[in-house]
Amino acid sequence: MPTPAAVLCGLGTSLPERAVTNRQLIRENGLDSDERWILERTGIAARYLADARTSTGDLAHAAGRAALESAAELAGGPLPPDIVLLATTTPDHRCPATAPEVAHRLGLGDTPALDLSAACAGFLYALTCARALVTAGLYTRPLVIGAETYSTTLIDPHDRDTAILFGDGAGAVLVRAGAADEPGALLAQELGSDGARAELIQVPAGGSRLPFAAPRATPEQYYFAMKGRTVYSQAVRRMTASSLGVLRRSGWNTEDVDVFISHQANQRIIDAVADRLRIPPARRHGNLRELGNTAAASIPLALADTAARRRAAPGARTLITGFGGGLAWGSHTLLFPEARPLSHPPYTPGPCPARADDDKAPS
Ligand code: UT7
Repeated sequence: MPTPAAVLCGLGTSLPERAVTNRQLIRENGLDSDERWILERTGIAARYLADARTSTGDLAHAAGRAALESAAELAGGPLPPDIVLLATTTPDHRCPATAPEVAHRLGLGDTPALDLSAACAGFLYALTCARALVTAGLYTRPLVIGAETYSTTLIDPHDRDTAILFGDGAGAVLVRAGAADEPGALLAQELGSDGARAELIQVPAGGSRLPFAAPRATPEQYYFAMKGRTVYSQAVRRMTASSLGVLRRSGWNTEDVDVFISHQANQRIIDAVADRLRIPPARRHGNLRELGNTAAASIPLALADTAARRRAAPGARTLITGFGGGLAWGSHTLLFPEARPLSHPPYTPGPCPARADDDKAPS
C-alpha cells in the first residue's frame, strides 16, 4: 500500500468577543505610544482580547469544534479525530496539559491529547507531528489546534514594547489520511531551533529556572520580555531560509507559490521575507491588521481567513512559514484546502464536567 499523505480537511477558528483598536489600547492601558506609530511600524490596527473568564482551553475547544464541523460538512458526515495536538504557550494550567480537557469537552472520550510548546512556531511543529503520525499509519485523524491568551496570561498591559503586538484567539485544522494531489495535502516541511538565543523572547520567572515562589524573582520577571530589534532580524533571516529549504524539498521555485502565509507578527517582517523570496504582494495573505500577533494561533487563523475571503482556490500551491521564541521556526508546503472555515465564539462553561464513570470501581 502506498504511504498515505496527510490532508487538511477542516478549518475552524474562535476569537474573543472584544476587538480593541490601537487608540482604545493606548487609552485603557495608559501606554506612552501613538496609534499611527503602531500601525506604521507593525501593520496592526486592532486585536481581539479575551476577558478574564475566557481561557485558552475555551478558545481551543470552540475552534476545534468549528474545525470538526467544517470537516463534517465537506465529507458529508462526521470525522472524529483520533488524537488532539494543542500548540500553546498559555495553557489553562501549568499542570496538567490543556489538550485532554479540550478533547473531553469535544466529546472525544479517551482520545489521546497533548500540549506542544514552540511559541509562535507551535502550530507548524504540531502540524509536522500530525503529518508524521498519519504518514506512519499510527493515527489517521489528528486535530491540530493553535490557541493563545497572551493578553491575560503573559503580557504586562503597561509595557508598550509588547502590549501593542499581541492578540488572543484560536485556529484549528483536522488532518486526515489521503492522497498527495488532493486539496489540503501537506507536501513537505522544514523545522529548526536555536536555544543559544533563548533569552531574546522569554518569560524569565515561573518555571523551574526561577520558580514561582523564588524570592529572587521580581514581579516584572513574570511577564513576557522580548528584544524586539534582534528578534525582528532573526525572524526575517530564519523564515526566509526555512522557506527556501522547504521549497527546495518540494521541488518548487518561489514563482510556483500561489499563496504565501507567514506568522503574523509585523507587516514589515512579512514583507521583508516575501520580498527576499520575490513573492509579489498579491500572493501574500494574512489578517495581522485586525488580529495582531496571536502566536501559535496566527497561522491557522490566517489560513482560515484566506479561505473565508475566497482569496485562494482549493489546490493552490501554498507556503506557510513561522518563527518565535525558542528560538523556533518552521515552514510547510501544501495544496490549499477545500474546506469552508467555520467559527464559534468561545464559551465558558465553568469547571470541566466530571465523567459519569468517575466513581465506579475498576472491574
Ligand atoms: O511573535 C514572535 C516574534 N516577534 C516579532 O517578530 C516581533 C519583532 N520585532 C518587532 O516587530 C519590532 O522590533 C517592534 C514592533 C517590537 C519595534 O519596532 P522597531 O521598529 O524595531 O522599533 P525600535 O525598538 O527600533 O524603536 C524605534 C523608535 C524608538 O524611538 P527613537 O529612539 O527612534 O526616538 C522607540 O522609542 O520607536 C520608539 N518606539 C515606540 N514609539 C511608540 C518603540 N516602541 C514604541 C511604541 N510606541 N510602542
